[in-house]
Amino acid sequence: MDKHRSLLLANKAWVQEKTRLESDFFENLSKGQQPSYLWIGCSDSRVPAEEVTGASPGEIFVHRNIANLVVHTDLNVQSVLHYAIEVLKVKHVIVCGHYGCGGVRAAMTQNHFGVMDQWLRNIKDVFHDHRDEITSKGSQEDQVNRLVELSVLEQLKNIQRSHVLQKAWHQEQRPILHGWVFGLQDGLLRDLYRIDPSSPIEQEYRYDKAALE
Ligand code: CO
Repeated sequence: MDKHRSLLLANKAWVQEKTRLESDFFENLSKGQQPSYLWIGCSDSRVPAEEVTGASPGEIFVHRNIANLVVHTDLNVQSVLHYAIEVLKVKHVIVCGHYGCGGVRAAMTQNHFGVMDQWLRNIKDVFHDHRDEITSKGSQEDQVNRLVELSVLEQLKNIQRSHVLQKAWHQEQRPILHGWVFGLQDGLLRDLYRIDPSSPIEQEYRYDKAALE
């Protein structure tokens, strides 16, 4: 049997199990979504948002890319942010990195990765800004993991710098921004950073109140 067929078979079993537990599960699911959370995570196959948080379909609006980056010129992540904040009105935005991230590790090397260089450049910039602190860590792996944490914080700041976030903070005092890091070795999420709607926004990135009405 082709290996991918096992996914389709598992899907049938999943449907049967969901329907057995709740006969109108899919009828309800099809009515619409009202997720409270936006999750921006790494594409890494080992960090599935719903599975590691025990969430059900409908609970988390998910965006994943290599190394969980929020880049202001990336229409994809910016569209997700816009839709989640302005239309779905999520209450929490979670940026979730993970220790041992291959994207972060690659960005710390001098290797050339083709088109991905442009993407990894965003991590290189964070490395550049924090080089002394990062290189003071003992092992190579510790250095990667510290950059993972610092990059998560930088992505939260990138969200904070966006117009759509500042408008939602100004008008509705939401969402709260959370920076988490997942440990592949123990499965635990570290709750490292939190930025509340009352937090100051750096002057260079702050929009006028009139622009937020
Ligand atoms: Co990763």
